[in-house]
Amino acid sequence: MPRDLLADKRTLDEMPQLSREPATDAPPQDSSPMPLYSPSIIKEDRFKKMGDIHPFAQLLNLDDLDDCDWLEHAAFDPIEAATREKLEYRLRTCGELCTGLFSSAYATSSGSLGEIIKARQFQSIDATDSDRKRILIGHIIATKSHSAVVTDDSMDYPKDFRTNYQLTPSTGHNEDGQTVCIHSLCVHPNFSGKGLGQVLLKSYVQRIRDSGVAKKIALICRDRLVGFYEKAGFSKVGPSKCQYGGGNWVDMVLDFEEGMGDDDPDF
Ligand SMILES: CC(C)(COP(=O)(O)OP(=O)(O)OC[C@H]1O[C@@H](n2cnc3c(N)ncnc32)[C@H](O)[C@@H]1OP(=O)(O)O)[C@@H](O)C(=O)NCCC(=O)NCCS
Repeated sequence: MPRDLLADKRTLDEMPQLSREPATDAPPQDSSPMPLYSPSIIKEDRFKKMGDIHPFAQLLNLDDLDDCDWLEHAAFDPIEAATREKLEYRLRTCGELCTGLFSSAYATSSGSLGEIIKARQFQSIDATDSDRKRILIGHIIATKSHSAVVTDDSMDYPKDFRTNYQLTPSTGHNEDGQTVCIHSLCVHPNFSGKGLGQVLLKSYVQRIRDSGVAKKIALICRDRLVGFYEKAGFSKVGPSKCQYGGGNWVDMVLDFEEGMGDDDPDF
């Protein structure tokens, strides 16, 4: 049947005009204040803080060693930063447990991105054959362990790793361990306080949980960051026995079998 365009036009003419302003004859809204913990407020606020950074996460591998080494030393105190060799061991041995947070970037980028692009050469930006111009702005580096918490042995690594691959060495990564130990979580200082650390951590937790590679995630942190990790579902265990970096750490654990905030409204 041919369409009656005139009837369509009449219907459209009778409809109220579309406007960006709220309708004046709309039914009265609930006047109670919006809850402060409204996910929409938090998300909107978080995206505002991120500005022109459009972060995306990708697995890391040995090709990322230069960037991880640079970022690790830009973010951590020298006494806490992992050495380049240790990073190489972890990326080489269990890159699938390591995640990078990247932002699209171009040589012409301005602001915080532009500043760090000028500070050093990034292969991923300068290479003409690179399919995606990206810059590393955060990372999580981890191994697996049999221990329920992070230990000095799990933070260490076998010095002959380049010539002698071991599935279950006494130090470093244990392939059949059931605990993922996060040894390094950092965001480049130019981008701190924008919510990126939480985004990186929460997406990492979700990936590890969904992949089923471990029963829990453990880490050590300074007392001041306990709240930061609790926000992502971790629980404080107590003082850590680790002496790495001068000691005085707190053990934090997220046990998938004990459940974690699946319905976290902030994510
Ligand atoms: C810790 C770190 C990863 C946080 O990343 P970030 O992107 O700045 O963190 P976010 O913006 O996601 O912060 C989220 C919340 O944690 C809090 N927070 C972040 N860093 C904090 C710090 N150093 N001390 C106390 N609170 C902190 C923020 O105040 C924010 O709280 P809010 O949402 O209530 O405002 C980053 O500061 C960093 O790389 N630090 C150096 C390396 C380091 O110490 N890593 C942790 C190893 S255990």
